[in-house]
Amino acid sequence: LENGLMRTPPMGWLAWERFRCDTDCLMDPDNCISEHLFMEMADRLSEDGWRELGYVYINIDDCWSSMQRDSQGRLQADPKRFPRGIAHLAQYVHDRGLKLGIYGDMGTHTCGGYPGTTLDKIETDAQTFADWGVDMLKLDGCYSNSSYQEQGYPMMSKALNATGRPIGYSCSWPAYQGGLPPKVNYTLLAQICNLWRNYGDIQDSWDSVLNVVDWFFNNQDVLQPVAGPGQWNDPDMLIIGDFGLSMDQSRAQMALWAIMAAPLFMSNDLRTISNGARAILQNKLLIGINQDRLGIQGRRLIKEKSGIEVFWRPLDKGASALVFLSRRSDMPHLYKTSLKELSYKTGVYEAYDVFSERLLPQLKDSTEFGVSVNPSGVVMWYIYPVAEWKKEAGPGRFSK
Ligand code: DGJ
Repeated sequence: LENGLMRTPPMGWLAWERFRCDTDCLMDPDNCISEHLFMEMADRLSEDGWRELGYVYINIDDCWSSMQRDSQGRLQADPKRFPRGIAHLAQYVHDRGLKLGIYGDMGTHTCGGYPGTTLDKIETDAQTFADWGVDMLKLDGCYSNSSYQEQGYPMMSKALNATGRPIGYSCSWPAYQGGLPPKVNYTLLAQICNLWRNYGDIQDSWDSVLNVVDWFFNNQDVLQPVAGPGQWNDPDMLIIGDFGLSMDQSRAQMALWAIMAAPLFMSNDLRTISNGARAILQNKLLIGINQDRLGIQGRRLIKEKSGIEVFWRPLDKGASALVFLSRRSDMPHLYKTSLKELSYKTGVYEAYDVFSERLLPQLKDSTEFGVSVNPSGVVMWYIYPVAEWKKEAGPGRFSK
């Protein structure tokens, strides 16, 4: 969507995967969906180095609203859990240099059973969000059908634009239509949405991450060409810092999301996140790769019988990123290849290991090398041709 927003994949924090529809503020005051939770996360984003790295959106998901619209037919926040209302929360978030995202549903009800946005309410809801100072809308698709969605998603795009407030628009539409043509029209989606959920929900497990990864790369011929500045495929939230992934698996999720040029919305508890998870999420070179200005989504190059898979993404200035993933469960596997075998053109290259943060010895396209990939882990390289690059253009350009 050419609204000037999200020229690189949006980054931030989204409540759903970690906090779901916990509305029990009596028994679980620190984790229930409430202004308290979002204010605490906003504090963390702004005070713990996240905002400076690009994590600027703080996004509300389902279960924020009251069960009833107000007397004028407008959505309203649950008065007990958001006593000061969404406009106040937006102000709080803006005061910290962050942006606020909200959630709606193109149907009669949200998936959690809260009021949905029916066709007759689209303009009202767009205006309400704009009046509150909201910066992004995720529009879910429960309790509707394909013809309803076909009308509603483009209508909301127009309505948001008509408010005059820049509001990033995330559409769950394709996820409800199987994510593939002919049912899904990606040309249209790219015109009306800034990002879209193509596939089912991520859960807090490595199985779930692999399931998402497989779907996206098995369908890369359809999905990869659609992505670009202002229009992103969304494989769903980062679950790094939660309970389901080891450190190696966490690195794998981050690396593959960077290859996919995916939105980076963490869904975790920033108040208690481990230093290990934080380091992965705050890796500057990795974020720089995800945020590459060309916005070209990467592809899976190779799927070996041995369980090794190789992924690649072209980057600005002739650079590229390579990810070697191991789906094995025995021991670190030494994978042998050369850049030539990975279709690199003739030349001399320098590679920087993104996680060990080490520059590797120069290599020619024909040089045979081996990478040791941990079980359910990755090795990620940032590669650039030596000849075409001046010294100062190295990976150091990502650090401030
Ligand atoms: C389905 C979406 O895909 C999830 O991300 C989340 O928004 C839930 N609905 C909320 O009910």
